Amino acid sequence: MDANKILEMRNLTVSFSTARGKIQTIRQVDMDLYRGETLAIVGESGSGKSVTVKTIMGIQAKNQTIDSGQIRFKYQEQGQEIEVDLLQLSKQTMRSKINGKRIAMIFQDPMTSLNPTMTIGDQIMEGMFIHYQTPKEEARAKALKLLDLVGIHDGDKRMKQYPHQLSGGMRQRIVIAIALACDPEILICDEPTTALDVTVQAKILELIKQIQLKTGIAVIYITHDLGVVAKVADYVSVMYAGRIVEKGSVEDIFYQPRHPYTWGLLSAMPDLETKTEKLYTIPGNPPNLAHHKQGDPFFIRNDFALKIDQRIEAPMFKLSSSHYVASWLVHPDAPAVKMPVSLSKRIERMVKVGEGRD
Ligand SMILES: Nc1ncnc2c1ncn2[C@@H]1O[C@H](COP(=O)(O)OP(=O)(O)O)[C@@H](O)[C@H]1O
Ligand SMILES: [Mg+2]
Repeated sequence: MDANKILEMRNLTVSFSTARGKIQTIRQVDMDLYRGETLAIVGESGSGKSVTVKTIMGIQAKNQTIDSGQIRFKYQEQGQEIEVDLLQLSKQTMRSKINGKRIAMIFQDPMTSLNPTMTIGDQIMEGMFIHYQTPKEEARAKALKLLDLVGIHDGDKRMKQYPHQLSGGMRQRIVIAIALACDPEILICDEPTTALDVTVQAKILELIKQIQLKTGIAVIYITHDLGVVAKVADYVSVMYAGRIVEKGSVEDIFYQPRHPYTWGLLSAMPDLETKTEKLYTIPGNPPNLAHHKQGDPFFIRNDFALKIDQRIEAPMFKLSSSHYVASWLVHPDAPAVKMPVSLSKRIERMVKVGEGRD
């Protein structure tokens, strides 16, 4: 792996056994994550975002099988650089060495990750005791520092409180402090602000960015909201029906999107000018892969579909060193198809705003 790369997922394919038989839910997913950078995974609900990152954490449902793949992960231990394939590690090793220690995850609903019967302080220190046998006083000092880092400045008082005594935004800050307690290499955020109101959401996003600047941690940020992606991401992977259909730098995806699904997501994103208009929504619903037979699962919802999409899913085409798209529209023999005019106008506006910021 590259010196700065810390996670490299290749060809991850995951199935679930269901009453309808075995369904391939995650399909040939590749992912690269670099130190200090944020990769956003975006896609509608059900596209496979959570299953993909849970696989990184070694969290698996009983009816789940990993059909293929590799997840190379690099971390430091006692000054040594260690590289492992997470899929080859035992559950026990994942639990004792990786999960919560080297890779931490925060979820949508802070209440599900907090223990209602334990004080905030004990919850922040728990990982330090389990993973590092940190002495009590040292752990306490670190917990206070972490609270400060997540913007909670009356730490002494908060340490003694219980989750129900805090607001939703405050709880999510605590969850982030717990996640950071063991100095992980990777922080995975699975829709961490969806349950919060817009102002709190903006604060949490800003907080994650600040933490990243201070600690150099790599972040995988999952969301269904491209507006959030624009605020946090360096790289973006767009997921549909268990597959990455487009990926690139944040500029590639926002300024030069090539997949009709990405066009749809971008068109559905509210911006300043469209606030009063009715917002675009992608027609139809995400597919049920149990019923899918052949071709591109996006075919029926795709206004720009070609005949070939009905039979054969497009392979991943490389557009540049950072930008890839799984769409036949970029094939040399494809008819010239442009994104909707309303979207290209919107992108012109975004470019202007972006330039104004620099
Ligand atoms: N244990 C399970 N058994 C069967 N299907 C599952 C299971 N867990 C998740 N799925 C299916 O996998 C797909 C992807 O789910 P998920 O990763 O949670 O989507 P997202 O996070 O993008 O909303 C969904 O269609 C979901 O129904
Ligand atoms: Mg999810």
